[in-house]
Amino acid sequence: MSDSELLGAAFGVRQRAYAPYSGFAVGAALLTESGKVFAACNVENISLGLTICAERAAVAAAVAAGERKFVAIAVVTDSEEPAVPCGACRQVLSEFSPDLRIVASTLARRIQGFSLSQLLPLPKQGILEASRDV
Ligand code: THU
Repeated sequence: MSDSELLGAAFGVRQRAYAPYSGFAVGAALLTESGKVFAACNVENISLGLTICAERAAVAAAVAAGERKFVAIAVVTDSEEPAVPCGACRQVLSEFSPDLRIVASTLARRIQGFSLSQLLPLPKQGILEASRDV
């Protein structure tokens, strides 16, 4: 599966985003090692903190389908610059694939690639130790 095909899935699902509060529609397409694609959009809520990001929705769909090994995620937004996953999504993605490839694109197809480990170094350091103290 090419980056351009994966981006196509993210472009398509972005149109289903439910984002009446921010107006910021996001589409994400997660490619598994087995070659499957799980696409999801952001789903907002009137209680704003309950909003689900597109990337985490894609992870949840993939895991529910029995997939836990991911090679890339495409993210599409209507922004000047390609938008990378938020901090919470980076942490969740990193649970399964710390070196995940991230391909971010604007609607105008301005595309930028990242590695998750570049955006979230040391994702687990200290977390287990801290939880043992509580
Ligand atoms: N959003 C995502 O879906 N993914 C991100 O990585 C950042 C933000 C959504 C959440 C909210 O619906 C809207 O974008 C504005 O923050």
